[in-house]
Amino acid sequence: MDLHLEVIAGEGRRVGLERALRDAVRDGQLAPGARLPATRRLAEELGVSRGTVKAAYDQLIAEGFLTARQGAGTEVAPLPALDAAPLKAAARAPVPRFDLRPGSPDVGAFPAAAWLRAVRRAVATAPVSAYDYGDPLGRIELRVALSEYLGRARGVVAPPERIVVTSGAVQGLALLTRVLAGADVAMEDPGLPFHREVVRRGGGRVVPVPVDERGVEVDGLGDPAAVVVTPAHQYPTGVTLHPSRRRALTDWARARGALVVEDDYDGEFRYDRQPVGALQGMAPDRVVYLGTASKTLGPALRLGWMVLPPHLVGPVADAKLHSDHSTETLGQLALAELIRSHAYDRHVRACRLRYRRRRDRLVERLGQRRRVQGIAAGLHALVEVGDEAAVLARAAVEGLAVGSLREHWHTAGSREGLVVGYGTPREGAYPGALDALARVLELGHS
Ligand SMILES: Cc1ncc(COP(=O)(O)O)c(C=O)c1O
Repeated sequence: MDLHLEVIAGEGRRVGLERALRDAVRDGQLAPGARLPATRRLAEELGVSRGTVKAAYDQLIAEGFLTARQGAGTEVAPLPALDAAPLKAAARAPVPRFDLRPGSPDVGAFPAAAWLRAVRRAVATAPVSAYDYGDPLGRIELRVALSEYLGRARGVVAPPERIVVTSGAVQGLALLTRVLAGADVAMEDPGLPFHREVVRRGGGRVVPVPVDERGVEVDGLGDPAAVVVTPAHQYPTGVTLHPSRRRALTDWARARGALVVEDDYDGEFRYDRQPVGALQGMAPDRVVYLGTASKTLGPALRLGWMVLPPHLVGPVADAKLHSDHSTETLGQLALAELIRSHAYDRHVRACRLRYRRRRDRLVERLGQRRRVQGIAAGLHALVEVGDEAAVLARAAVEGLAVGSLREHWHTAGSREGLVVGYGTPREGAYPGALDALARVLELGHS
């Protein structure tokens, strides 16, 4: 059996192997009854000792994931009766063979060891009061750390008393929608459909605002209470907001007493130059800044932050209190520790290198035949195709999951394309995913 296992860097070998095997069983990559390689063979393949593999097998046998039969080697155990239903349901969900969907970073790069150290230190040093109900704005330790980081890395004017820690950027958007109580909210077209739905379900009226090669078109904005934009790297077209548009947008907000909501979801990842600072720095009194750990660390943390104009701090804090009181505290303290110790910066730098290489490989693989649209940034790229439906049909046959531009338009748009999430695959799976994309785009061999 050819077994591809991803062991997260920084984990101990045995612990990493155990986790990788557990994941493979849970994900259905290893089906019940499947025979595992002999310990000697897997040890050779992974470059670890045979004792390490044996210990990992024994641990998973003890946990019930594997069984060992005399003379038959080690097999994946039949599904336990109690958990069979959810596990089967999960196994039935189509897991794409190649995953280039936009939205997630390579979660295999999660800095598990650094996070563990940060959690340990956070718990060891937290005052007892940290275990009580907390401030709806979030822990002061994290707000102080974010204040310094956002000022330094993104040019955000972020005094701690204007920061609200949220459960991801999406909660920031939901809280703001609630505060705006049924107002018109302009959103980029094309843009993230999920965020449109969040605004709609929160009672906001979504108004489309077109995007061209200079970013969001400010001229036709009209009179909404707020406009939600992705200035650093427009999602999904990948363009950056032109300097003249940045000025026009902040001028528009000041003139109308309106808000600009800056979704800075991947602002740390720019590859061709220093990142352009956040728009918020130009008009801190008119811009609501949304940040997130979802791209830099992982969406599972559900940690995001808002930096608010002074007049919105009270209303948003009140909405947060009546939504979920405050964000889970220990994660906040761990993130504060990660930022303070600069482990966060080190991790972001390492990821920047990794994603930059991936984007370069994508551009190289597409060659002259298909152009990657937008700037060298972020974790996704738009590849225009004239025949989206046909390309997606070929992708389905190949087992390749990839984003479609069509899904991002408010109403049927003119341009068609693929939104390629090159950050998503585990490191070892990326070359195969690129090859699948090349086949789907009929590019021939590299
Ligand atoms: C455009 C955009 N904004 C924000 C986010 C992050 O959202 P959250 O912090 O809620 O995970 C994403 C994630 O996919 C995104 O694509």
